[in-house]
Amino acid sequence: MAESLPKIHVLFVCLGNICRSPMAEGHFLNLIEKAGIADRFVVDSAGTNGLHDGEKADHRMRRTSEGHGITLLSRSRQVRLSDFSTFDHIVAMDHSNLRELQRLKAQVAGAKAILHLMRDHESGGRNLPVPDPYYGGQDGFEDVFRILERATGGFLAHLRKETAF
Ligand code: 4NP
Repeated sequence: MAESLPKIHVLFVCLGNICRSPMAEGHFLNLIEKAGIADRFVVDSAGTNGLHDGEKADHRMRRTSEGHGITLLSRSRQVRLSDFSTFDHIVAMDHSNLRELQRLKAQVAGAKAILHLMRDHESGGRNLPVPDPYYGGQDGFEDVFRILERATGGFLAHLRKETAF
C-alpha cells in the first residue's frame, strides 16, 4: 500500500477573520482544488481578536467573492496557541497581525509554524499589507479580492518550490 504523504497545514490570519483571511482561504482552496492537490492540504483561517467568533464572512466580502465564482464557507474563530504546533505555515494579512502572531508564537515551546506576510508572495507586493476593507466601500472588497488572487497564487508557487507535492 502506498504511504500517504503528510498534509501541509496552512492558516490565513487577519484581525476579525470575516474579510481578508476568509478571502485568502477561499482563493487558496480554489487554487488547490483546480490543481487537483486539495488532498495534500489542511486549510483554515482565523482572527487575532475573537470579536466575530462564529460569524460567517462579512456579507460584502461574500458577495464580491460569489460574483467571481468563489463561495466563502468559513466561520470566524480566534487564533489559538495550539495553531503554532498544528500549522506548518501561518500567513498574516498585515504587519499588525504579523506582530501579534510573533508575540503568540514566542509563548509556544517547539512551535513549528513558519510565519509569513501575505503580500511578500505577490510580485511587487513585498512588505505591503492587504488593506483592511471593513470601514470602506465596495471598491475595497474588489481590491482585496484581486490582491489576494495574486498573493495566494504566489504563495502556492512558493510552497511548490520548497515542498514536493
Ligand atoms: P478583517 O476585517 O480583519 O479583514 O476580517 C475586519 C473585520 C472587523 C473589524 C475590523 C476589520 N472590526 O473592527 O470589527
